[in-house]
Amino acid sequence: MHRRLIVPGAIAASLLLAIPASAADFTPGASGIGDPYYPASGNGGYDVAHYDLRLKYQPGTDLLEGTATINARTTQNLSRFNLDFGLTVSEVRVNGKKAKFARTGDQELEITPAAGLPKGADVTVVVRYAGKPSELKVNGYTAWHRTPDGGVAAQEPEAAVWWFPSNDHPLDKATYDVSVSVPDGTQAISNGVLRSQSSKLGWTRFNWRSNKPQASYLTTLAVGKFDITTDKTEGGLPVINAYSKDLGDNAGAARASIERTAEVAEWLETVFGEYPFNALGGYVPNVKSSYALETQTRPFYSPAAFNNGSNTSIVVHELAHQWYGDSVSVHGWKDIWVNEGFARYSQWLWSEKEGEGTAQELADHVYAQRPADDPFWTVKPGDPGPDDQFHTAVYDRGALALQALRNEIGDEAFFAILKGWPKAHAYGNAKVGDFVKYAEKTSGKPLAGLFDTWLYQPTRPEAPAAKAAGL
Ligand code: ARG
Ligand code: ZN
Repeated sequence: MHRRLIVPGAIAASLLLAIPASAADFTPGASGIGDPYYPASGNGGYDVAHYDLRLKYQPGTDLLEGTATINARTTQNLSRFNLDFGLTVSEVRVNGKKAKFARTGDQELEITPAAGLPKGADVTVVVRYAGKPSELKVNGYTAWHRTPDGGVAAQEPEAAVWWFPSNDHPLDKATYDVSVSVPDGTQAISNGVLRSQSSKLGWTRFNWRSNKPQASYLTTLAVGKFDITTDKTEGGLPVINAYSKDLGDNAGAARASIERTAEVAEWLETVFGEYPFNALGGYVPNVKSSYALETQTRPFYSPAAFNNGSNTSIVVHELAHQWYGDSVSVHGWKDIWVNEGFARYSQWLWSEKEGEGTAQELADHVYAQRPADDPFWTVKPGDPGPDDQFHTAVYDRGALALQALRNEIGDEAFFAILKGWPKAHAYGNAKVGDFVKYAEKTSGKPLAGLFDTWLYQPTRPEAPAAKAAGL
């Protein structure tokens, strides 16, 4: 979903397109969107507006089957195009007509429509499929968690390939309707609002809708036996949380943390501006992993996050991502600092507000724990490389960079930037360099040197000391 400007030249160009093009003018869409970290991610030649997924999942066998209907617009004359997907496809239709399809690698589905698709055309693609997501590995890796009572798709940078065909890159966001049928007594959780839920012939169908642009990796599915709580924020947005019935001793702490979602979001609004989506919540499936993920409107939390009792800080982190990561998304995966640096810094701000240590104190603490020869300092948060994309340095050094910025430009400009940025790039994509320019413009100070030191040098910078009062 990209915004377009209509300019006279573009109108003239589209009139020219009315002249029938010869087959030779139609070329294949690229099999990747052009992200150097993940060359196979995403595709070229079209732009998705909406995904409609109508699925059925059987927890006993891990069989997922159904239909994906994709509304897209072509961005070139296409002879064929790719979707990123790993399950078994039985039929593809493009604008109602059967299309040829082939698998070219673990996660590429190559589709050849009966006739070429002209640039700028609205196209509807229907993909019928089935498969067991737990059996799919891409480069030895899986984003699918099989649980004793179901399954969960939640991973970064890729999760969609395990359960629906997509243009799998944050550059092509879209809206979603996710409808999943599961055996009665089992629940299906996804993003946004629950439009309806109904049961027949032993199956219950859950219809979820997420109505703001959403990246494919932030689209989630969890099937299992959940306790679901439903509430509204003071502003009237639905808050839907889901807890596996199988959380054991961690159940209380998980609830004590996630039931504070509305309170945390309200506080974050004072720092980042208005909450960008149509619903809130969180879910905790009975998975064995230990990470959390900012799946849009409804973050995923591993039960292990609550091993030591309540963990409001992780709720702060995942909710901060709703602004920094979900509404404003990376342009390429090397821009991951625009997500993680800010989500970590928001945890420091929460600590500051809760009286558990100021951001400066936490920055000093993190810095003191990392001697100059710690390999931590060799990771460049501004371009960490795919293998270190989620290295602690992206988070901690990334947040130190923000403390250094705050000390350099003062609180007034710093907080104006934190609030202005999500508005300036709402529902879009941004690069690290865009943030540097935005910070320079808003503060009126040259900052290229500061960001180069903190984000791009493989060495330990000087400690980000608070400036003496009056300076
Ligand atoms: N964006 C997620 C977070 O910081 C990180 C997920 C990384 N994935 C992983 N398997 N560690 O909340
Ligand atoms: Zn994060």
